Amino acid sequence: MDTVNFAIIGCGHIAAKHAQAIEKIVGARLLAVCDTHPGRTVPFREKFGAREYSDYQQLLQDPGIDVVDLCTPSGMHAQMAVDAARAGKHVVVEKPIALSLGDADQIINECRQAGVKLAVVHPNRFKPAVQALKKALDEGRFGTLTHGNATVRWNRNQEYFDRDAWRGTRDMDGGVLMNQAIHNIDLLQWMMGPVTEVFAYTTTRLRRIETEDLGVAVLKFASGALGVIEAAATLYPTNLEETLAVFGESGTAVIGGVTASTLNTWRVAGYSEDEASSLKQAVNNSTAKPGHQVILEDMVEAIRTGRDPLVNGKEGRKALEIILAIYKSAETGMPVRLPLVERGN
Ligand SMILES: NC(=O)c1ccc[n+]([C@@H]2O[C@H](COP(=O)([O-])OP(=O)(O)OC[C@H]3O[C@@H](n4cnc5c(N)ncnc54)[C@H](O)[C@@H]3O)[C@@H](O)[C@H]2O)c1
Repeated sequence: MDTVNFAIIGCGHIAAKHAQAIEKIVGARLLAVCDTHPGRTVPFREKFGAREYSDYQQLLQDPGIDVVDLCTPSGMHAQMAVDAARAGKHVVVEKPIALSLGDADQIINECRQAGVKLAVVHPNRFKPAVQALKKALDEGRFGTLTHGNATVRWNRNQEYFDRDAWRGTRDMDGGVLMNQAIHNIDLLQWMMGPVTEVFAYTTTRLRRIETEDLGVAVLKFASGALGVIEAAATLYPTNLEETLAVFGESGTAVIGGVTASTLNTWRVAGYSEDEASSLKQAVNNSTAKPGHQVILEDMVEAIRTGRDPLVNGKEGRKALEIILAIYKSAETGMPVRLPLVERGN
C-alpha cells in the first residue's frame, strides 16, 4: 500500500484538527469527507482537495478509502464504526468510543471479525508530561501506589450546550464526565490500573441540559489504591484547571495547568532536585507532536506493520466503563463494582 487514504465523517469542530494532522503524516492523505450539514465539507475540499459526501453510506462504498475517521456526535459512533468495519475500512473513532459497553463491544468485535484496525482518540496519552509519568510508573519508581486524583474544573457555558442540539443529551453526548473529563479519567486509570469499585454523585447545577454538569466520585483500584474524580463544567468564569495527581510510597507527581499538560510536581525516589527540575523543564518545553497526529500516524503504522494501534478498542473501552459505573452509582445511590459486564469476546 503506497498512500493510506483517510476519510473524515463529521466535519464539525474537531475535524479540522484531524485534517491538519493527516496532512502532516508522510504517506497519508485526506481523500474524502462527509457531513450532512450543507457547506461543512467545503473547506476540506478547498484546503485539502477532499472528495465530498453528504451520505456516509455512499462514502463507505468508495474503494479508495482505507481508514474512516469518525468525528461525529458520540451517540453516532457505534453504528458508523460497525458499518465502516463491515465495508472493510479501518476505523478511527473520536472519544468516547461509544456511549454503552454493548455498543463498544460490538465495535470491537466487528472490527476484529472484519480484520480491520480500530483506534480510539485519546490524544492526551501522548503529552510529554503524561508519557514521563507513565514511564516512571511502569519502571516501578513510585513503589506501592496509595492514591490518584483526576480533577477537571472547566467552564462549558450555556451557549456551548445550545450551539449544537446533541450537546448535553443522554443519547448523543452524556455530561461533563463522558464528554470533557473522559480524557483525564482515561489517564487516571492508565496510571493507576483497573478500577474495582466506584461511589459517585452527579448533579446538574447550572446548565439547562439533560445530563450532569458536575460529578464527583471515589474509586477503589484493583491494587488497593484509592482515587478521587471531580469533574465540573460549571467553573466561573472560564476554565481553571485539569489536574492529574499520582501518589505512591516513593513518588509524588502532579500534572496540571488548564489542560493537564504541565509537570508541576515531580518528587520521585532516585531523582535529585536538579534532575527533577531538568525533567520538568524538558517536558514542559517540549515541542512534541499533537496527540491527534500521533494517534493517526500510529494507525498508519499499525496498518503497514499489521500490529494493533496503541489506543485500540479495548483501551478506549476502559474509561467508558468507569464513567458508566459512576453514572450507575449516582443513579442508584449505591457503590458499583467493576467490571460492569464481561466483555463479549
Ligand atoms: N479528542 C478530543 O480532544 C475531542 C475534542 C472535541 C470533540 N471530540 C469528540 O469528537 C466528536 C465530535 O465533536 P465536535 O465537537 O467536532 O462536534 P460537532 O457538532 O462540531 O461536529 C459533528 C459533525 O458531525 C456532523 N454529522 C452529524 N450527523 C452526521 C451524519 N449522519 N453524517 C455525517 N456527518 C454528520 C454534524 O453536522 C457536525 O458537523 C464527539 O464525539 C466529541 O466527543 C473529541
